[in-house]
Amino acid sequence: MATIEPFVFRAPHEVHFGVGELGRLGEVSQRLGRKGLITTGRGSARERGFIDRAQQSLAAEGIEVAVYEGIAPEPPLADVERGREVARAHEADFVVALGGGSAVDVGKAIAALGLTETPVTEYHSGGLACDAPGLPCVAIPTTSGTGSEATPNSVLTDPAKAKKSSIRGAALLPEIAIIDPELTVPLPPEPTAHSGLDALCQAIEAYVSRGANPVSDALALRAVRSIAGSLRRAHRDGSDLDARTDMALGSHLAGLALASARLGLVHGLAHPVGVATEKPHGLVCGAMLPMVIRANAEHVGRRYSQVCDTAGLSDTDPSFMGGAADRLAGWTEQLCSELGVPVRLSELGLSEADLEPIAEVAAKAGSTAYNPREMSAGAILDLMRQNL
Ligand SMILES: [Fe+2]
Repeated sequence: MATIEPFVFRAPHEVHFGVGELGRLGEVSQRLGRKGLITTGRGSARERGFIDRAQQSLAAEGIEVAVYEGIAPEPPLADVERGREVARAHEADFVVALGGGSAVDVGKAIAALGLTETPVTEYHSGGLACDAPGLPCVAIPTTSGTGSEATPNSVLTDPAKAKKSSIRGAALLPEIAIIDPELTVPLPPEPTAHSGLDALCQAIEAYVSRGANPVSDALALRAVRSIAGSLRRAHRDGSDLDARTDMALGSHLAGLALASARLGLVHGLAHPVGVATEKPHGLVCGAMLPMVIRANAEHVGRRYSQVCDTAGLSDTDPSFMGGAADRLAGWTEQLCSELGVPVRLSELGLSEADLEPIAEVAAKAGSTAYNPREMSAGAILDLMRQNL
């Protein structure tokens, strides 16, 4: 039997999963205080009626509600500072972070830094950890992708430095996560595909990460099973509630897994490539995945083979012949192509001149340190050149 190395696993204190669970927001938030701030993005949660439903549920329990709207995709640090001002003015006891990955990340940061005067830049550029307790956060995702409702980090962008990276710390882990698959039903096919590919990358990277542990392994493989079984269906027919539920589960489990296992080179590359191409995070992740799987082939033991088995990739299917890494990479390429995501870097809009600075940033990224194969800037540059 293999030795089990010591590990730490953290998760939200409560997870409420199921169709219609948004309606229980007020009930489950009661213990957090009498004043709540809902934070959200640029309109889709409002247009789809989710903000009204959240407000009504909180108001029914006598909770006073303020709403902070307009969080940008690839959110800038200023969105966190503005939200903190609204939270202070409202004297909020807790934050409800409702929306896609960006809105949830910003809501988490507003909550985590809700009791300190220290500017968010100190955490972003200065590397300060968000460990001191902040306000409690209820995270409610409206996409199935980032798993941010389960992780102790927020991805933020500093436009002045063209720097996209995470702030981290125990205070960023939400107190409560409400995962209601119904909220993902109105999501159009394209963001469904992109967020689903992000979840798939996160599940696979967590499973082969240097930080993987027995708890994250169980979660990551279960996530692969759900996502591999349902992403195409959710993309083809967004009203398929079974597929949406399976994707919501897969995304959440991948988030739980990566919170302790961390990720790998796909995510180390995703930030600088995202900044250079201005393409959505999930699309960039999906595009990088086949290349990184092939690069890691000799460094993961039997783990890609286990991912193939879990994803239901048959040895006998002639299109997936070859080693497990080739089989898995081929399958992810085919999946990307069905979902309209390119896998050549030039198709993402990158040219030779872009590659060196990207490789430099990716080599230093926190995620890259957990990639099963050690990757220097030179090795990353070679890999990208081969896939331009
Ligand atoms: Fe991601």
